[in-house]
Amino acid sequence: MPMYFAPMEGLTDDIFRRAHKACFAGVDKYFIPFVAPTQHCVFMPKEKTALLPENNQGLYAVPQVLTKNVEYFLWAAREMRDMGYPEVNLNIGCPSPTVTTKGKGSGMLKDPESLQYFLDDIFSRSPLPISVKTRIGYDSPDEWPRLLEILKHYPMLELIIHPRTRSEQYRGDVHPDAFALAAENVSCPLVYNGNLFTAADFQAIQAQYPAVSLMAGRGAMTNPALFQEAAGGEKLSIPQLRTFIDTLYHGYAARYDQSVIIGRMRDVLKMLALGFEDSKKPLKAICKARTLDAQHLAIEQLLSLPLKETPAFGDT
Ligand SMILES: Cc1cc2nc3c(=O)[nH]c(=O)nc-3n(C[C@H](O)[C@H](O)[C@H](O)COP(=O)(O)O)c2cc1C
Repeated sequence: MPMYFAPMEGLTDDIFRRAHKACFAGVDKYFIPFVAPTQHCVFMPKEKTALLPENNQGLYAVPQVLTKNVEYFLWAAREMRDMGYPEVNLNIGCPSPTVTTKGKGSGMLKDPESLQYFLDDIFSRSPLPISVKTRIGYDSPDEWPRLLEILKHYPMLELIIHPRTRSEQYRGDVHPDAFALAAENVSCPLVYNGNLFTAADFQAIQAQYPAVSLMAGRGAMTNPALFQEAAGGEKLSIPQLRTFIDTLYHGYAARYDQSVIIGRMRDVLKMLALGFEDSKKPLKAICKARTLDAQHLAIEQLLSLPLKETPAFGDT
């Protein structure tokens, strides 16, 4: 079963992706957090860093575009093709208000007719095969049948479905019926994304949908060995986690100054801490640390704790 690391803006940057690939097995594709092209037709420095092929060497990375403008999409896709990427992903799922109020991300689901025109254009003119990452509606899952009716007509490389609406953000249960409807009606390859927190969660979806690929985000941030475990490999161990944290730290230290290193490491460590028993104290120390020494001490505190039997994002 193909397995994908979900894009997570602010977390799964190029340094994170390379460190993860160096330390853990099981990921077939790493999705790069979105770039949002504008009329200026330049990538922002942060976007450039994320996309540079040399920053994604040794792993299969998929660039993602967030826009409602056909020409901006096509410009970004051409740039990505020229960089050597074999595919591009369209984000019509982002629920962030700063994105949706501009009619982008899951804001595009609010107006199915405009979405259809947009898809008509990009699918007929894109220089690269396109996959789409979507939610099942803006306000209500009742919107899904109509959206699916539109989405199913395009020659998508893959359709990645996070079966929640925009208003549900990342909270609560997913809607398995909505995914089932897609599995019955769509002929392109499907990818399931949402609340895959343990290897058993992967196996349950695989048993139900043997042909579907699986994408995980938060679960893999808390247990970076999740994919390797789901593939039948080793469970997360402290030595492997220590190597990962060291690799990540050295990656950040080679590029950033102290305050950025601390910030980047803190965001990752906060997710990792959820995989440990009784991690309240080191978590507090991680959040408070303002120097590398203090952060290092907090990391040692964390790594001295036992890992949860099944480290999982969802049980916190
Ligand atoms: C902090 C954060 C940043 C995210 N950034 C992106 C992004 O750049 N592009 C995207 O398509 N989804 C993004 N997502 C959504 C995830 O890719 C994924 O769909 C979501 O976390 C649900 O999967 P999970 O239950 O496995 O975490 C983000 C989610 C979070 C929590």
